[in-house]
Amino acid sequence: MKKNILLTCFCISILYAKSQSIESELYRPQFHFSPKEKWMNDPNGMVYHKGVYHLFYQYYPDSTVWGPMHWGHATSKDMLHWQHQPVALYPDSLGYIFSGSAVVDVNNTAGFGKGAMVAIFTHHNPKGERAKRIDFQNQSIAYSLDDGKTWTKYAGNPVLKNPGIVDFRDPKVMWFEKENKWVMTLATKDRITFYSSPDLKNWSKESEFGETLGAHGGVWECPDLFPLNLNGKKVWVLLVSINPGGPNGGSATQYFIGDFDGKTFTPFETETKWMDYGTDNYAGVTFSNTADRRILMGWMSNWQYAQVVPTKNWRSAMTIPRELYLKEVNKKIFLASKPVKEFDKMLVKSTTVSNISIKNSYNLSSKLNTTGSRFQLSLTDITANDFSIVLSNKKGDELVIGYNKAANQYYIDRTKSGVIDFETGFAKKHTAPRLSSSKTISLTLVADVASVELFADDGLTVMTDIFFPKQVYTTITIRSSKGVTVKKLTYTGVRTIYGK
Ligand code: FRU
Repeated sequence: MKKNILLTCFCISILYAKSQSIESELYRPQFHFSPKEKWMNDPNGMVYHKGVYHLFYQYYPDSTVWGPMHWGHATSKDMLHWQHQPVALYPDSLGYIFSGSAVVDVNNTAGFGKGAMVAIFTHHNPKGERAKRIDFQNQSIAYSLDDGKTWTKYAGNPVLKNPGIVDFRDPKVMWFEKENKWVMTLATKDRITFYSSPDLKNWSKESEFGETLGAHGGVWECPDLFPLNLNGKKVWVLLVSINPGGPNGGSATQYFIGDFDGKTFTPFETETKWMDYGTDNYAGVTFSNTADRRILMGWMSNWQYAQVVPTKNWRSAMTIPRELYLKEVNKKIFLASKPVKEFDKMLVKSTTVSNISIKNSYNLSSKLNTTGSRFQLSLTDITANDFSIVLSNKKGDELVIGYNKAANQYYIDRTKSGVIDFETGFAKKHTAPRLSSSKTISLTLVADVASVELFADDGLTVMTDIFFPKQVYTTITIRSSKGVTVKKLTYTGVRTIYGK
């Protein structure tokens, strides 16, 4: 009898454990990176080293809300299937470990060893902050001689002391080949300050940028500076995240296009441009050491509501990794992005429909053998007239992604998307300008169970939004009261990274 009870308990606990598996948790992204449990924000220290992508991230392992920051760590061969690794950096007597970057010190400039991985991050001292000192954020370094497994903080930290600026953080470091030096791009309150160093330990100020340029609705954070090719010419891109003050409220990332000579960044144009017009792509920066590829991942949330979103055991995810490139429209240069080519390997079972005429409503789900809540949907050469793509469920929740011709805007409307009452500003319609001048519209949607990423006009206009339906969306409808034609529609399922 006792044995039977024990056996029953054992079976129940196995069943319970099974039903609690990560992949079955409500709103758990199925192909986006998310921490196993607890709080995550910005991606940090992203670097490619010996065939492995490293993702570190702002992490608080004791709660599902923000707290003393650590660097969580995960590794991957394709930026989609990630292996969780032990925490890489813990808070210490100098403070919490805030955002930063990582490089591979190929020439052993720092003397830690040839090919050492070096992390450059902000030490944020909570005691100094509480005491209302202004110098509580300083830059420090740590190194790893075993390919990122274990990290040693440099004994001479901090390597760049605060000169008296309250917001002094998020160092992004790159090797500036032409002058054999490291360049640090640092967010310093309402501007960017560039520093340089021969050895990652001694830093000299080079210049400042942006006090009177770009958006200033909030503090500047998490910058990145990198070159991209445009018709054989090297053009520099400066990313600057800002919170609040984004185009649709809360956190967002603006960018500047220009020239960088190792000392000064000179923008070509002064208008404010946004890398992503949705509300859920923040603090995005690019991987170091990826040769001629430039790959970005962002934090798929927004400080406006990140700490109250209705997920239970963990909070937030990263965007899909995106390849960045430049596009010219009417003599202006824009930053465009698309999912990395590795994502194609995640695609399964595609259905193509050609030459569709839509008047009022087209139930795409009825044309497909399967509809799931994970898919990539590409529409090619749509008449540039009002239309929308509606994801919905039987509970009456719907997420509407569309184009408004009169305003020449794309939009994502999540006012009726499901659970919306956790924060007053969440249930909104977000808009983004259409920048392309081509006659017809082509776009790709990448949808996971709780997020959608819209890449319109070859990634010239991008929007990322999260949502929390009461039940997963299973129906896709395309609507157009004015009528549109679509030359080609391709629907593809997306594999889960959890092995099913
Ligand atoms: C951006 C940010 C950074 C900071 C980190 C703290 O989201 O505020 O500026 O380093 O988060 O977690």
